[in-house]
Amino acid sequence: MGFYEDQVVPRIVNVACGTKLLAPLRARACADLAGDVLEIGFGSGLNVPFYPAAVTSVSAVEPADLGWRLARRRLDAARVPVNRSGLDGQSLPFADDSYDAALCTYTLCTIPDAAAALREVRRVLKPGGTLRFLEHGRAPDEGVRRWQHRLEPMQKRLFGGCHLTRSVPDLLTSAGFTVTELDAFYQPGAPKPYSAMSLGAATAP
Ligand SMILES: C[S@@+](CC[C@H](N)C(=O)[O-])C[C@H]1O[C@@H](n2cnc3c(N)ncnc32)[C@H](O)[C@@H]1O
Repeated sequence: MGFYEDQVVPRIVNVACGTKLLAPLRARACADLAGDVLEIGFGSGLNVPFYPAAVTSVSAVEPADLGWRLARRRLDAARVPVNRSGLDGQSLPFADDSYDAALCTYTLCTIPDAAAALREVRRVLKPGGTLRFLEHGRAPDEGVRRWQHRLEPMQKRLFGGCHLTRSVPDLLTSAGFTVTELDAFYQPGAPKPYSAMSLGAATAP
């Protein structure tokens, strides 16, 4: 990775994804987490304040060293132990059936092979374990989707490989998850190509 990806993108993400507008959505995504939790694409730890008391530990997987450093204050204030346990969601260094729950927020857009990452999450979740997700992706409306295709090349260049056109429910289903909760909506206050959200839960077999 170059200077821009290493030193600039994590700071942009920390600010753009740290907006107060997203706090209620993060709270909803994290609300039912419990036990030993895996978070892929931990970023700068913007979900840490929302981990509920029922969480006993969090294994954070994040390639960006700067993201981890920007998380420092949130980690110091965390109510549960959070350890940086891996660098790549596409290849997780954990045994099968290790985690009670998993979390990903605004990450499936960026991981190069999101399908591989979801297969890995499914592998390390205990049977019946739940992945809670809050992601942006492919819009429900054809007109918005056309704009997403136009804007995606620039989005990928500016935001560390972030895609606009990935279908989160399709990715989850293809990886063997059963989607048990799904709220699909446009986040108010942002242009539609960037704000087609999927918030919900999916269960591993
Ligand atoms: C848009 S940021 C979201 C960060 C955080 N989840 C949040 O909600 O603020 C996407 C994150 O995915 C991370 N990422 C990129 N490739 C990854 C990979 N192969 N495995 C795990 N995380 C990855 C990036 O470093 C970045 O922190």
